[in-house]
Amino acid sequence: MFKQLFEPVSSTLTYLLIDDQTMEAALVDPVDKQLESYVKLLRAVGCKLKYSLETHVHADHITASGMLRQQLDVVTGVGAACGAQSADLQLKDGDVLHLGRQAIYVIATPGHTPGSMSFLWNDRVFTGDALLINGCGRTDFQGGDAGEQYDSITKRLFTLSGETLVYPGHDYNGKRVSCISQERDTNSRLAGKTREEFIGIMANLNLPKPRMIDLAVPANRMCGVPDETQQG
Ligand SMILES: [Fe+2]
Repeated sequence: MFKQLFEPVSSTLTYLLIDDQTMEAALVDPVDKQLESYVKLLRAVGCKLKYSLETHVHADHITASGMLRQQLDVVTGVGAACGAQSADLQLKDGDVLHLGRQAIYVIATPGHTPGSMSFLWNDRVFTGDALLINGCGRTDFQGGDAGEQYDSITKRLFTLSGETLVYPGHDYNGKRVSCISQERDTNSRLAGKTREEFIGIMANLNLPKPRMIDLAVPANRMCGVPDETQQG
């Protein structure tokens, strides 16, 4: 079982993964503003949330992971290189998480941030802001590195089976799903581009600073609950 959820303010795509044998579930990239709707949905579906996972420390919204941990006793997981000390799992490349007998494979895809991770689950991969539909995450802040991004996408994600469904962390154009072969063949930043060409493209995007970055990044390093340590 699977649900794709959309948070309109930051255009964030959140995913609910459920093993229908055990009803164990994971959320990928939950947003704080949607906390109540997640709790309602989990109750309606009748699943037990086991993990709340982040593809990276986000700059444009605050995660609901810490609040889900407080309310539902879930295990939070973030890439070890994200500097999110309060996360229960400091995820590394090759880690495997389980929902019942189903596996979630952790693939390190640094570049957008040094700790960016993708999660491969059955026939689909959750790419966060590494690979977007006909795009990719920016690499001009939070320790981003365009060369690393190119290597992560071309050597780790584009080497997955072409039919693997690509579910990104954001989409700003109303798109919701792609697949590896489509991105390999048509992604305008990557298809047919050399590493040097890609680095040049990424260096010239001239994007504005994200509105929430100064608030969101420190909060997300604490799973979105900055006062949690003081609360014990
Ligand atoms: Fe991001």
